[in-house]
Amino acid sequence: MPGILLGDVFPNFEAETTIGKIKFHDFLGDSWGVLFSHPRDYTPVCTTELGRAAKLSDEFKKRNVKMIALSIDSVEDHVGWSKDIMAYNNEEPGCKFPFPIIADDKRELAVTLGMLDPDERDKDGMPLTARCVFVIGPDKKMKLSILYPATTGRNFDELLRVIDSLQLTAKKRVATPVNWKPGDEVMVLPNIPEDEAAKLFPAGVFTKELPSGKKYLRYTPQP
Ligand code: BEZ
Repeated sequence: MPGILLGDVFPNFEAETTIGKIKFHDFLGDSWGVLFSHPRDYTPVCTTELGRAAKLSDEFKKRNVKMIALSIDSVEDHVGWSKDIMAYNNEEPGCKFPFPIIADDKRELAVTLGMLDPDERDKDGMPLTARCVFVIGPDKKMKLSILYPATTGRNFDELLRVIDSLQLTAKKRVATPVNWKPGDEVMVLPNIPEDEAAKLFPAGVFTKELPSGKKYLRYTPQP
């Protein structure tokens, strides 16, 4: 089965994009990366998604995350469509689209990366790309993947929240609980013994009493 698993080194593919030919690992350099696919150019949900992604591009940059989109149309289509997206965002005409879009018009990457949606087809009966998101770490390994069908738009604000968690948990031995936001308390990893946790988290470890008597709900201020 095609596809990439968490922890796999992300393929160092070559692709034509709106900024020319790239080799993916060179494009990423030492940054984090987010690659997200779209079913097709000039489609409504994709336009709203890319509009939001463009609006948030400075937030991704602040987090040292390089953005790159993919759709199964040509560079020429992507360039025309990105002008529509900027107009949808009420940007001035001529305002540059803030990140590249891969032209996967032969669906080669879509197949390699396991991104095709069997339920959504174009007028010729060919499957469209689903809405995938891959977050890649500076070590080029896949840290997160999300797969939505073509008919459900994603939440790019949620993607920033998730990246905040990935970047925090890459450095500190904590996990982020439900609906966590930066600055909220985090959970001490279950595999850290109590005495070690006390040393690791000098701001304090707060354990919630539970009917089982097990001490696994351990909170600490975000380190
Ligand atoms: C859209 O982006 O609006 C869309 C594309 C393909 C299938 C369904 C919706």
